[in-house]
Amino acid sequence: MATLTSEQVRGLDPYAFLAVLGKRVIHPGGRASTDRLLELAAVRPGERVLDIGCGVGTTAIRLAREYGAQVVAADIAPLMRERATANVSAAGAADRVSVEDADIRSLPYPDAHFDAVIAEAVTMFVGRRRAAAELARVTRPGGRVLATEFCWREPPTKEAKEVFLGQVCPGMRFDTIEEWTGIYGGAGLVDIETESGPFEMMTARGFLADERGHAPAVMARAISRPAYVRKMAWLMPRMSRAIPFLGYVLVSARKPAAAGVEGP
Ligand SMILES: C[S@@+](CC[C@H](N)C(=O)[O-])C[C@H]1O[C@@H](n2cnc3c(N)ncnc32)[C@H](O)[C@@H]1O
Repeated sequence: MATLTSEQVRGLDPYAFLAVLGKRVIHPGGRASTDRLLELAAVRPGERVLDIGCGVGTTAIRLAREYGAQVVAADIAPLMRERATANVSAAGAADRVSVEDADIRSLPYPDAHFDAVIAEAVTMFVGRRRAAAELARVTRPGGRVLATEFCWREPPTKEAKEVFLGQVCPGMRFDTIEEWTGIYGGAGLVDIETESGPFEMMTARGFLADERGHAPAVMARAISRPAYVRKMAWLMPRMSRAIPFLGYVLVSARKPAAAGVEGP
């Protein structure tokens, strides 16, 4: 893996930085929300699944290993794809997980190509309606779309909102649970259900639950370079001001079956 300069580390967005530290679960609902997402996805062996914005490939690997899916793990960021490729290979899943370059706003896949499409913490980075329409487009009629997104669990203070959306994740936009339902419904999806919970990815409890056996290696890496320590020292106090107000919403939806075709 290429070593980044201190200046490059300073410029990383928080998610890429966590990936560089070796963190495996990089979304607001943590492993618990992925467990639930996979339960709702109910993927069957041999089904074709897209994990868009796959990060370091953790959910894609689970889809292949635990559910027998044929997975496309796609991400716009070369750094994430590099780590996903290494993790897929280390997991011995290269024959069932293909790591690809794709942008959620314009997916390079034909209409109705996938049985299920997953986007964990991706849509909120881009024009949400366009991204949701793309997720719906590449899903087969009767197929499932699942996403996790950030939401405010409590109305944030002005300071918490400015720190999180202005400094930690500039450019990110997220909505209320009702607005997320509207965005996915507006993409033509049906049977939309949502579940929500607290943001625990960067609490001590959430970190240990998410990373399990990898936790010591992530902590060791975080203190292995002054550039990482400085980045942590910048990030953590800001995160802790926003965390009390942050949550996640898990959206589960279905693309309507084609007229006259029975669903599974
Ligand atoms: C918060 S991380 C989530 C990673 C992974 N889904 C997970 O849950 O661990 C967001 C991911 O979305 C990717 N991403 C951001 N914008 C994207 C876009 N327009 N198309 C595809 N991926 C994108 C980022 O590179 C990053 O890997």
